Amino acid sequence: MAHIVGGINVTHVPYIGRALANNLQQDAYWKPFFDGFPPVHDWLAEVKPDVAVVVYNDHGLNFFLDKMPTFAVGAAPEYVNADEGWGIPTVQPFGGDLDLSWHLIDSLIEAEFDLTTCQEMLVDHAFTLPLELMFPDRLEKPIRTVPICQNTVQFPLPSAKRCLAFGRAIGRAIENWDSDARVVVLGTGGLSHQLEGTRAGFINKAFDLEFLEKLVSDPDWVTRFNNDELVEKTGTQGIELLNWLTCRGALGATVRQVHCNYHIPISNTAAGLLAMACE
Ligand code: DHB
Ligand code: FE
Repeated sequence: MAHIVGGINVTHVPYIGRALANNLQQDAYWKPFFDGFPPVHDWLAEVKPDVAVVVYNDHGLNFFLDKMPTFAVGAAPEYVNADEGWGIPTVQPFGGDLDLSWHLIDSLIEAEFDLTTCQEMLVDHAFTLPLELMFPDRLEKPIRTVPICQNTVQFPLPSAKRCLAFGRAIGRAIENWDSDARVVVLGTGGLSHQLEGTRAGFINKAFDLEFLEKLVSDPDWVTRFNNDELVEKTGTQGIELLNWLTCRGALGATVRQVHCNYHIPISNTAAGLLAMACE
């Protein structure tokens, strides 16, 4: 059976694409962010995942506001990036894993999560940049991928309770996949940020730090908040932290924290990075 090595949650901000393209990792603005990654790269070199299941939200590239699935799973041989209008370079496509995609779709629908199935799926910065950050040599050493897209964009959104249950079902499905593959789960977005309106620029460090701690030790803690409360605490885009919760759900009851980094701000966002190993 397949083995989940652990999970990594990380912020996605288009601006990171510009830093990567221009090799700005040592620049004073970027260094505190990029310095978070070497310990995660070391851990990935140890646990050697073959496949990354990426829980993220699309921002209007593949799904626009007129058609908005709550949960969508990719089942394509490859996933293509395209221009979102941020002025960052588009990146090379990512290979899929059709066997895992269909196994996940079958298992999750059996578990009563009524998904949208995507045999073609454009992937935006929320999928591409975390993978570029985690696997900088992915063109030489390709990692197979399965995108899992959650609606964190247009109300009504799935609740924290639903996302955690979805993540747990994803974890059970991966563990029942008849394969010797090693799987890492990624969750992208957050932490606190708001891009528009009177609270544009809003950041809540106290909540982010508590969230980071509870995500490791007691992820059910997040389910005490409804989505209005999560938006109030984290901002209209901070609610992307639901993707982190789904990722955490997939990792099982107990995890070991491998590394955590938190830095304010990257663009308008409180940038977080949290790697957890399954024991
Ligand atoms: C920013 C953050 C996001 O999550 C996003 O999807 C786009 C932009 C930002 O802080 O600039
Ligand atoms: Fe986002």
